[in-house]
Amino acid sequence: MAINMKGKSITSMLDLSREEIWQILEFAKQMKHEHLAGKRHDYLKGRTLAMIFQKPSTRTRVSFEVGIYQLGGYALYLGANDLQLRRGETIADTARVLSRYVDGIMARVFDHKDIVDLATYSSVPVINGLSDFEHPMQILADFLTIWEKKGTLEGLKFAYVGDGNNVANSLIFGAATIGMDIYVASPKGYEPLPEVVGKAQEIAKKSGSKVVITNDPIEAVKDADVIYTDVWASMGQEAEAEQRRRIFEPYQVNPELVKHAKEDYLFMHCLPAHRGEEVVDEIVDGPNSVVFDEAENRLHAQKAVMALIMR
Ligand code: CP
Ligand code: NVA
Repeated sequence: MAINMKGKSITSMLDLSREEIWQILEFAKQMKHEHLAGKRHDYLKGRTLAMIFQKPSTRTRVSFEVGIYQLGGYALYLGANDLQLRRGETIADTARVLSRYVDGIMARVFDHKDIVDLATYSSVPVINGLSDFEHPMQILADFLTIWEKKGTLEGLKFAYVGDGNNVANSLIFGAATIGMDIYVASPKGYEPLPEVVGKAQEIAKKSGSKVVITNDPIEAVKDADVIYTDVWASMGQEAEAEQRRRIFEPYQVNPELVKHAKEDYLFMHCLPAHRGEEVVDEIVDGPNSVVFDEAENRLHAQKAVMALIMR
């Protein structure tokens, strides 16, 4: 039976149950196929989405804006510097005001607390379009891509190699919920936070999957079905980039490392990629890479999310 997700905010992968994730993926797959076959969906006719951006974006902005347009609605791009936020209006007041105009709010922020505050004070659903702690919309697109390519999510071995960052946190929560084994290999001091790992391990017990944190990239990618990486310095960490380049060097995804994975492994990256750092051209442009399908699926997964929560 369909789960009613109307009005639901998604600030974290932890906001979604296993059943809700599958509902989003199934709806996304159906709408994607119908859209590609020429069918038009007007689930959000006359609806509006406010999109607050405190950081740059290519995929998130374009996929949300195009996505709501394809559903018959309209998106407003709100650069944080153009809003009264810049002059000290609070997130809480911004949420209360925007809620009087629009049917949903998507926000990309530095401090995860801003997303939580938006969701607390908004009377319309709030979507996390990336914070310093999580990036749930990315993970829904990633899961849709893996499901399309592998026919399943449960029981796969997923290896994340690199920084224990926002993308890693959401992948860990998502994998544990859905029942996929996740191995994360990060340098010492850059592992995901113990509270993230502890929470995910608790969830994984119920789904029968594993959450393993290691400093050894080979242990993570050994016999993996999926190898995933992300930039070594996230937005806002530019000052640390040089130091991080030295520390993360042994964690580069290159032909030497991927030899340890299954032959038909998928290479994934949320993009943008820093080619020559966390991954080399040969891998990101190679036969196992699905990075552009993954980017495309941001559109389809988010259309499903918007149609389910904003309808
Ligand atoms: N993956 C992702 O969120 O890309 P953008 O920063 O371009 O939105
Ligand atoms: N971890 C990266 C993801 C970009 C989509 C960042 O936060 O910059």
